[in-house]
Amino acid sequence: MTVAAVRPSTASAPDVDEIRAQFPALERVHGGDRVAYFDGPGGTQVPQSVADATRDYLLHHNANSHWAYPTSLETDAIIDAARAAAADLLNASPNEVAFGANMTSLAFSLSRALAPTISPGDEIVITELDHHGNVAPWTRLAAERGAVIRMARMRTDTYSLDWSDLEQAIGPRTKLVAIGAASNALGTVTDVARAAALAHAQGAHVFVDAVAYVPHALTDVEAMGCDFLACSTYKFYGPHLGVLYGRHELLTRLDCAKLAPAPAHAPDRWETGTLNFEALAGTTAAIDFMASLGGSAGFGTDDSRRARLARAYDALHARSAPLFASLWRGLASIPGVVLHGAPPTDAPRSPTVSFLVEGVDSHTVATRLASEAGVFAPNGIFYAATIADRLGVTGSGWVRAGFACYTTEEEVERLVSAVRTIATGAGVRS
Ligand SMILES: Cc1ncc(COP(=O)(O)O)c(C=O)c1O
Repeated sequence: MTVAAVRPSTASAPDVDEIRAQFPALERVHGGDRVAYFDGPGGTQVPQSVADATRDYLLHHNANSHWAYPTSLETDAIIDAARAAAADLLNASPNEVAFGANMTSLAFSLSRALAPTISPGDEIVITELDHHGNVAPWTRLAAERGAVIRMARMRTDTYSLDWSDLEQAIGPRTKLVAIGAASNALGTVTDVARAAALAHAQGAHVFVDAVAYVPHALTDVEAMGCDFLACSTYKFYGPHLGVLYGRHELLTRLDCAKLAPAPAHAPDRWETGTLNFEALAGTTAAIDFMASLGGSAGFGTDDSRRARLARAYDALHARSAPLFASLWRGLASIPGVVLHGAPPTDAPRSPTVSFLVEGVDSHTVATRLASEAGVFAPNGIFYAATIADRLGVTGSGWVRAGFACYTTEEEVERLVSAVRTIATGAGVRS
């Protein structure tokens, strides 16, 4: 992306053909066209290495954990490896990483564990920019505890957080600030470190929804200053799995739901029941795949996985930023196309755009993009319900196009050209 702040980098952009060769899904043809997947914000395709790791686990190491024979010991090693990989991805310690079904389930689990810390009249701050997965757990928690929800507004001129509103919302009764790092609908990136500083000044905890951020920006829980963060591996080339980061002291102390015989120590105590071990194997492979995208920075450089991830994000940013600017310019030049979100500049932003075609409902646009141009881009409100309300988006919502590491210039041109044809009322192949 595009999220990365522009900074000097020795990383070279990865060769997109080499990257693409690792994704069998990219060979799919639909209606005579090679499929162009713009549905990354909903879930990316996976490279062969991720599918291989998942399959290898199921076929050769399958067992439950914590027993004394080889396949069980191998399963334990797979869990440890996934924690270490996720810790590298987030700049955390392995004992601060718990896995679960998805971000939403983990946020609900966390909300239940935080319940005893919330008293009637306390306040929980959320934002209008957030996915409902970072809204519902907290509104429900507030309702159950007699607490008050304060929702910080989005500015509709910049599509960004209204900081003065957030500053007013956070006060001495605030117990939790739940904030998204990147909007899955608009691509807006929010300075969560700034929000965390405001929250901590009032003694509140900070939860960051980084689901739409981690695929595009090097994530650093220390620099963000958050207490908790969640993301989902299926958004960055992995299997369907959620990841919860929590400060170790909090993961140890909070009263999470667990069975009495299950491990009492963190982070294991957060992982109810049997984990999805095959997805953990795939998660390590996905993070290693991400790390491979930075290439080598040469002899004598830091070759740790974290350093390789940093180079990979820089390299992806270097390639996707001009491509995303070109997508934006192309769509913006089409009469009748309305783009929601801030135009790309040097400011951090994720390469995701939601748009409307005047006079054509978004379901029809998405259907025609697929059938007439092989472009797979979803339509809907993508659980960004508050943003949709604020912007007056109803019915079949927006069409959303997001980049992944395999997006090419040709695909961007194809998308723009197909939208132009739909907007001008002609058939793509007419
Ligand atoms: C920004 C954001 N937050 C939360 C979620 C929910 O993630 P999950 O499907 O892992 O529960 C999504 C899913 O699209 C998302 O984009």
